[in-house]
Amino acid sequence: RIAKLHGRRVWDSRGRPTVEVEVHLSDGAIGRAIAPAGASTGQGEALDLRDGGDRFGGLDVRRAVASVNREIAPALLDLDAADQEAVDRLLVDLDGTPDRGRLGGNAIVATSMAVLHAGAASADVPLWQHLAGGRPVRIPLPEIQIFGGGAHADRRVDVQDFMVVCPAARSFSEALDWTAEIYRAAGSLMRAAGKAQGVADEGGFWPAFDSNEEALETLSLAIESAGFAPATQVGISLDVAASQFGSAGKYTLALDDRTLDTEALIDMLGGWIRQYPILSVEDPVGEDDHDGMLEFTRRHGRHCQVIGDDYLVTNAERVEAAATGGAVNAVLIKPNQAGTITEAFQALQAGKEVGFGTIVSARSGETEDITIAHLSVGWDAGQLKVGSFTRSERMAKWNEVLRIEESLGDSAEFSGWSAFPFADP
Ligand code: PGA
Ligand code: ZN
Repeated sequence: RIAKLHGRRVWDSRGRPTVEVEVHLSDGAIGRAIAPAGASTGQGEALDLRDGGDRFGGLDVRRAVASVNREIAPALLDLDAADQEAVDRLLVDLDGTPDRGRLGGNAIVATSMAVLHAGAASADVPLWQHLAGGRPVRIPLPEIQIFGGGAHADRRVDVQDFMVVCPAARSFSEALDWTAEIYRAAGSLMRAAGKAQGVADEGGFWPAFDSNEEALETLSLAIESAGFAPATQVGISLDVAASQFGSAGKYTLALDDRTLDTEALIDMLGGWIRQYPILSVEDPVGEDDHDGMLEFTRRHGRHCQVIGDDYLVTNAERVEAAATGGAVNAVLIKPNQAGTITEAFQALQAGKEVGFGTIVSARSGETEDITIAHLSVGWDAGQLKVGSFTRSERMAKWNEVLRIEESLGDSAEFSGWSAFPFADP
């Protein structure tokens, strides 16, 4: 039973305030979790409640922390922490708004995750095992950023994430080994070209490129110079995050000041898919561009994963609608987009039921919190996206999955190619 719940302000990887919640149960078990924060947020997301005003550029979270201590804590007292659904339902009802704007999505998600941790601690099992409840799980395929971009790098290039996936690796641990070599190779190429200029928000190299294509070219070269076969061993995964540079029918590229209609954007991306070893593309068109999403999926969905992030905002109904209409074939799962653990799980289940790829994802603003590492394994998501291969708010998640994989020993099954919603890469 929940005996005590406490909210406090802590700091995230961008040096911005965020909400931490600590839950104490009557049996002595403790759970703790921290809310992450996005920069390229979708319109349908749960609202990240910020104070406004001058303090920390308006980003302080004193109101959200007060929601936890004044309203949420007394309301959750004596509830069974093992009954996540009941706790989450109460949080949603207590807030009473469609976008979690009254108590704050940050206050609610931190509470929901902290209760989840407390439940696992009380059962005395690792969180992933608590979530799996005996069902078989796979260790996820990691999607790891090599170059940042978009809203995470001052729009230096349009594409937000240039990532690699290593589906031919035999284990998660081997996939990280391969990625480390590729990251090093990319760094050498950047230095040799005089383009090493630090890192972007999620720890990938700062994209000092003259075009998106130059980034793709450099990444392909890094894969090959690290000794891997493009596409059959290691592939490229892109988060276009197109809502950041346009909406239905009109997209403005940062570098050459070109404006593209939906058709031209899809043609440009299609050209990249033909030329480079791209296995996955996220948010290829704007979140309001339903026809564009359909067209892109119709053209490329048989050989390429098409992920809805801003387009689906971790919402089960949107996932079902997308599947019915034929838009996208994979869903990104961000607990703080949905608001609660239960809703995030429902979106993931909805995705699995329609045969979508499912990817548990971090946000660009992160902390040492490792909840999503456990979600990706315990929910058997198949894929995990955390950002780059530097900086400890990212490495904390990769390292936690390494520990889980090791703890499973010979019984650990790595998702590899099975993570993708297509049969023929
Ligand atoms: P965000 O970016 O956390 O800044 O929204 C992550 C993503 O778009 O996948
Ligand atoms: Zn995204």
